[in-house]
Amino acid sequence: MVDVKKQGGLAGIVAGESSICLCGAEDESLLYRGYSIEELAKKGSFEEVAYLLLRGHLPNRIELSAYQKHLKGLENLSAGLKNLLQEVPPSYDLMAALRTHVSLLSLLEPEDLEKDKNQIPDRLLAVTGSMLIYWYYFHSQDKKINPITEQKTLAGHILELIRQEPITEEEIKALDVSLILYAEHEFNASTFTVRVIGSTLADIYSSICGGIGALSGPLHGGANEKAYQLISSYKTPEEAEKAILEKLKNKELIMGFGHRVYTTHDPRSDIIKEWAEKLSKHSKEGYLFPIAERIEAVMRREKALFPNLDFYSALVYHYLKIPTYFFTPLFVMSRLAGWCAHLNEQRENNKIIRPLSQYTGPKRKKWAELDARST
Ligand SMILES: CC(C)(COP(=O)(O)OP(=O)(O)OC[C@H]1O[C@@H](n2cnc3c(N)ncnc32)[C@H](O)[C@@H]1OP(=O)(O)O)[C@@H](O)C(=O)NCCC(=O)NCCS
Repeated sequence: MVDVKKQGGLAGIVAGESSICLCGAEDESLLYRGYSIEELAKKGSFEEVAYLLLRGHLPNRIELSAYQKHLKGLENLSAGLKNLLQEVPPSYDLMAALRTHVSLLSLLEPEDLEKDKNQIPDRLLAVTGSMLIYWYYFHSQDKKINPITEQKTLAGHILELIRQEPITEEEIKALDVSLILYAEHEFNASTFTVRVIGSTLADIYSSICGGIGALSGPLHGGANEKAYQLISSYKTPEEAEKAILEKLKNKELIMGFGHRVYTTHDPRSDIIKEWAEKLSKHSKEGYLFPIAERIEAVMRREKALFPNLDFYSALVYHYLKIPTYFFTPLFVMSRLAGWCAHLNEQRENNKIIRPLSQYTGPKRKKWAELDARST
């Protein structure tokens, strides 16, 4: 019999086939449909990556321009949707709000399986930021923002909506790179959730709401917010080193470190770290970067653990003046591309995902009448 204890959390178990992403091969690389993450982040845009993930190939010039226009046309909120968003109660939990918004959208714009399989994925990519940020300003500042911007890219659109002020090309590029890095990552917890729900032939919105729920946890997408709280709680690298050593002594988890699949480094972290350093140079809070670097050094020295994508992303988002509670929702806005690509792939060759468990409960028991049961 298989020793399931050794496979806790399905570690090391191959749970299906996929041609979308290669994550953590022998050289710990990351490829989206064969393209390296380094090249995609340096030369590509999030729109090219979303197209690649959803349509299977990189768009040519004409396809890209048409896709950008297509997404632009899907960013708007109908009057009915705005009204519903105003009714969603205020909350500090933006992931719960986002999950609710996606659920509302399912009622207004239900999935029609006769239509193009990427119709709802494209709509979700384009509108999720508009919905959340519209709702956020309505409740936090009693302001009905215009959910349309003149920005050509999704990164520019989202950043301008959040900031409600002019933004620079460098800032847009930094967010664009982060969206590229977060877009896809094989059978991680949220993507697997999306596939499990999709395998029952439930609608796409059910899968996405499940994915958002899975991503909200601090061991998954929620780690970027926690990483920022950690880094920003110190004033100097020395103070950070002392505190991290103490936490490790108490066996506390340090958010933004470690990974289930990578063993020596996360290739996405090197890329986002460069952006964190670049942005730190124009920030009054530039001192946070050396603090983060010291935490990284201590973690490597003491635990042989390396930063994952969430650690330096937290700093990048902070330097982009994005409020912390938007960090994990931004992860959603990007990972939607990967989730929907996986859902399409699951549906193309579907078999309901239904594994077994190893039973550890009691043997068969006899039914006892109510009065005969001991307390
Ligand atoms: C990502 C993560 C969930 C992977 O979990 P996993 O594959 O089950 O790894 P384990 O929890 O078994 O970790 C193995 C060992 O490293 C330690 N470890 C792993 N990540 C750690 C961290 N971030 N801080 C401190 N110790 C850590 C564990 O305590 C464990 O030590 P032990 O063998 O002495 O018990 C885990 O590293 C983690 O919780 N990281 C922090 C959250 C995070 O950044 N999540 C984003 C992931 S991209």
